[in-house]
Amino acid sequence: MDIQEVLKLAEELIYDHTGENLDYLQKTILQRTLENQTYKKIAEETYASETHVRSIGSKLWKTLSKILGENITKTNFRTILENAKIYNFAPVLCKDNVTSNINICPSNPRASPTKTNSQQTPNQHIIDLDKAPEIINFYGRTDELSTLSKWIVSDRLRVISLLGISGIGKTTLSLKLIQEINRFGNQNGFMGNQDRFGDQTPTNLTEEINGFRDQTPTFNYIIYRTLRFSPTLTQTLTNLLQIFAPETETSDNIETLLSQLQKYLKKYRCCIIFDDVQKLFSPGKLAGQYKSGYEDYRDFFQLLVTVCHQSCLLLISREKIPEIIKLETENYPVRTLILGSLGNADQEIFQKHQLANRESWEKLINNYQGNPRWLDMVATTIQELFSGQVAEFLEYETLILPETLQGELEQQFQDLSPMEIRIMEQIAKQNQPISIGEIIRNSQLSIQESVNLIQSLKKRLLLDGQLENNLTVFTLNYVWKQYLISNQN
Ligand SMILES: Nc1ncnc2c1ncn2[C@@H]1O[C@H](COP(=O)(O)OP(=O)(O)OP(=O)(O)O)[C@@H](O)[C@H]1O
Ligand SMILES: [Mg+2]
Repeated sequence: MDIQEVLKLAEELIYDHTGENLDYLQKTILQRTLENQTYKKIAEETYASETHVRSIGSKLWKTLSKILGENITKTNFRTILENAKIYNFAPVLCKDNVTSNINICPSNPRASPTKTNSQQTPNQHIIDLDKAPEIINFYGRTDELSTLSKWIVSDRLRVISLLGISGIGKTTLSLKLIQEINRFGNQNGFMGNQDRFGDQTPTNLTEEINGFRDQTPTFNYIIYRTLRFSPTLTQTLTNLLQIFAPETETSDNIETLLSQLQKYLKKYRCCIIFDDVQKLFSPGKLAGQYKSGYEDYRDFFQLLVTVCHQSCLLLISREKIPEIIKLETENYPVRTLILGSLGNADQEIFQKHQLANRESWEKLINNYQGNPRWLDMVATTIQELFSGQVAEFLEYETLILPETLQGELEQQFQDLSPMEIRIMEQIAKQNQPISIGEIIRNSQLSIQESVNLIQSLKKRLLLDGQLENNLTVFTLNYVWKQYLISNQN
């Protein structure tokens, strides 16, 4: 998003929630903040006192924090707004654009399917992706698309968890997958959005889906919901049931809601994407512990794996989901895909930013773990401060973390437990992978505490373990390592 887009989104959000337009000073504060200017400079430009500018700025951050439910400061303003655009507030910017690539929204998204001769597979499908971000660019990920479509179309798994660190491309991949499945659904005689993805469809994915043409492969319902703002299970179920049966009165009894949903998941083939599942977990505690009042999601997820139905639930999360791991080992129709580097496809990002020194691109990708969001932030900095010269940017011994990237890590850092932070800081000081024994020695924690902490960091995909000379050693995500080191200095 460029500065004007972020600014426009901020203005629209504030107007939508307060009914007030921003005045000149407020707009200047927002704009100059996006340009990394200090309050002092803004005060000089606007002929206001610095104290006044600070106070107006602080009120703006408070208002935006309230609207977005996140602690917004001068430093993280841009990152959070960009994420807000990508997630729940996408329609604000996309409202004139609902028919473009992915933001598929039927004219009446709440309409229930028309009655058909076949109770099991009504010849209509409803796509409710109006809470989903719009995909502008999509590169690579052919293997992942192929694996996921096989799991959905051929293996007919009931639940799939798609995991990965922030910015690695989980949401983007899931929506691309839906586009693909939807496209083949259309060709197979189903109604729905007539999107265009032909040129970019990977051959192996085409084969994958073609192979299952005769099995009524597509979904009657495709629904995307983010759990970013932690709706209760009752809210989530009520919301879903309104899509299936808008006229039906909803109950506030969770058992009733669950059995009603189950009925639809059996009757129709539905694909429900729940994004940002990690938001159901308690900040400040070890990974995978549900927030108080959200524990019933555990039973919900479990139920959807263990009870017979013909639908597929795609759970997207930055952290492993405990009950899914457990059920996977018990051979239920559930599987997990952990998303890694985007690999060479990341080069498209550099091309978009018109970076130079192609021979250094691979190193850049490796340094930032092939994470498209991180690389996009880095590429912006390289273009802005190094005139696009990747080699010059890489000359420095320390890994440079642009402010936007620091802001993103800072948010996640605040969700870690104090003990996890302690152990991560210790591991960050090591130049070599470290064994459990060394972690225990360095941290002076008991074996039990250390094991719990290491497990928790592994669930968050921040710590990677591998076997070296019959010893399991752990390495910290390299970007995180750099962030922790620079935080300590
Ligand atoms: N395959 C891809 N091709 C092009 N761009 C991509 C791809 N995957 C991700 N991106 C870009 O990278 C950024 C992050 O992607 P995305 O939002 O999907 O990540 P995420 O894993 O869902 O992150 P989070 O955990 O924060 O929700 C987006 O700007 C997206 O456009
Ligand atoms: Mg996401």
